[in-house]
Order: sequence, then structure tokens, then C-alpha cells
Amino acid sequence: MNSKITNQLKEKYEAIDQDVDVHLEGLLYSKPINYWDYIQTDALLNLQIQRTVFPDEKVFIMYHQISELLFKMILSEIEQLAKNDAISTEIFTDKIMRISRYFDVLTSSFSIMKDGMDLEQYNKFRNTLTPASGFQSAQYRKIEFASTELINLIDKRFRDTIDRTSSYEHAFEHLYWQAAGKDYKTGKKTYTLKAFEDRYKDEFIRFTKFYYGNNLWSKFKALPEEAKTDKNLINAMRHYDYTVNIKWVMAHYNTANHYLNINGKAAEATGGSEWVKYMHPKYQKRIFFPDLWTEKEKETWGINI
Ligand code: HEM
Repeated sequence: MNSKITNQLKEKYEAIDQDVDVHLEGLLYSKPINYWDYIQTDALLNLQIQRTVFPDEKVFIMYHQISELLFKMILSEIEQLAKNDAISTEIFTDKIMRISRYFDVLTSSFSIMKDGMDLEQYNKFRNTLTPASGFQSAQYRKIEFASTELINLIDKRFRDTIDRTSSYEHAFEHLYWQAAGKDYKTGKKTYTLKAFEDRYKDEFIRFTKFYYGNNLWSKFKALPEEAKTDKNLINAMRHYDYTVNIKWVMAHYNTANHYLNINGKAAEATGGSEWVKYMHPKYQKRIFFPDLWTEKEKETWGINI
């Protein structure tokens, strides 16, 4: 056996007061790893539990699960950037490109949803899902919190009333997505929104505290001047912003239109939002990196696309 490795192993285990020979003996009896053990295929392929007999419900469940896995990959890249205090232009660009590629996949594959299910089957099995909604995807919300400052996620109708002195509670109540489940006049929230907040609000508060100065937009603004003017980096940031907030949102909106707009009449969504208006980017005007767009680009965000 290579003596260098033996010595390194000895050092490693001595450092934690362990006998290296016992560990080597353990290695002697351990089973070789298999693909299915490592990838956990048994667990993974047993997570598609249908509520109805319709085969296309499987497509719906699995594509959501694929999306959640990609969301996890995105969050992992953002976290590495957030925790890095010595980011170079190259690292920043490289990470944004990785994140973008995942979102490009999410966007281009959305046709699996739009064209991959039988309209009739969908409109039957979806009744068993009410009042659940993709709206309750915590990872999607986390991607937003980790990508930009909270002010850019505030419902644009209330943006002028909120600044750095506003309480977190006040800001939270005016996040753009509250509009999907809240009557602003009475303050009444739908079950879908209430259940989501009961489950995740505390976690979101902890998460946003960390990302307060560590989100992608704040991190970008803290870069040296030459990095902030780097064309490749700016293009990569714009590409990511546009893919998430226009392309994915539109692919999603078109899918909702395909399944829920029946004979020109919008069916009620499982999450109960006024989705025709709520989901369109021209109303939400979500932009993660506002200074990287011209005034005209911002004004026309989501229009004529
Ligand atoms: C047939 C497919 C789909 C339809 C018809 C659909 C429909 C909708 C509707 C109407 C909403 C608005 C909230 C509500 O009232 O329920 C919504 C929100 C949402 N859905 Fe979907 N959806 C589909 C697939 C997906 C997929 C595959 C994902 C991936 C995880 C997803 C993630 C989301 C997210 C993150 C929201 C919140 C977006 C926001 O607040 O702007 N949806 N969806």
C-alpha cells in the first residue's frame, strides 16, 4: 500500500483519537457501492404517489419533483456565492451561468407540462389537489429571496410605502405573492396562503435574514467597479433575470391558459388566485437586478412578449 496514503490516514484518525487499524478493518468488510445505493433509486422512484387513477397525474407529479430538484441545485450554487467573501469576476460569472443553465432547463422543459398531459385527465385529477398549489413551493420563494433585495419582491403597488426602516413583518405582508391569496381591504387570507405561512414563515424569516446582504444582487453591487462593469457578467445577470422573471413565468402562464382557460372562461385555480392577472409578468413586474435594465426596458417589462 502506498505509504503516503497510509501516513495520511494515520494522521487523519489520530487527529480525532481514533485507531486507524480499526477503520482499515472496517474497510475490509464493507460492501462495494452500487449505482442504486448511491443514487438512492429505490427511494426516488417510490415518491410518485398518485391521488387518482389517471396516468397523466404521474407526469404532473414527476415534473414538479424534477423542478424541485433543479430548484435545489440552484439554491446550492447561490449559497456558495453568498458564503464566499472573496469572489472574483470569473467565479461570479461562472456561478450565474450555472444557475442560469438550470433555469434554462426549467423554462425549455415546461412544454412537458403544457403539451404532455391530456386536458380532460388534468381537469379531473386537479380537483383532488385543491387547495394545494405550486404557489406553496418554498424553494421557489427561497430562490427569489436569495436572488435579490426584499424591496424588489414587494408588490409594485406598495413599493413606495416601504423602505429600510419598515418592519420585516410589514414588508412580508406586502410581498408580491401575498396578492395571490389575500384580500387587501379586509386582510383575509385564503387557506392556501395561511397553510403555507404556518409551515414556512419562520424558516423564511431566518433565510431572508442571512440573505439580507448576501443575496445575488447585493453581492454584485459590492463587487469592485471593474467587475460591475464587466460585459460578460452583466449579460449573465440579465440573462438569469429575464429567464426567471419573463421566460419561466410566461411558460407557466401559457400552461395555465392551456389547461384552465376553457372556452374563453378562466377556471378557478387550485390555489384560488385570480391567476389570469396575477401570473402575468406585466402585472407582477418582478425584476431581480433593476439597475441592469434601462428605464424603457423596465416600463415595458412583460409587455409585447
Ligand atoms: C398544468 C400545470 C400547471 C398549472 C395549470 C399551474 C397553475 C398555477 C396557478 C394558477 C398558479 C397561481 C396560484 C393559484 O391560484 O394556484 C400557480 C402558481 C405557481 N406554480 Fe404553477 N401551475 C402548473 C405547473 C407548475 C409547475 C410544474 C411548477 C414547478 C414547481 C409550478 C410552480 C408554481 C409556482 C412557484 C407558483 C407561484 C408563482 C407566483 O407566485 O408567481 N407550477 N400555478
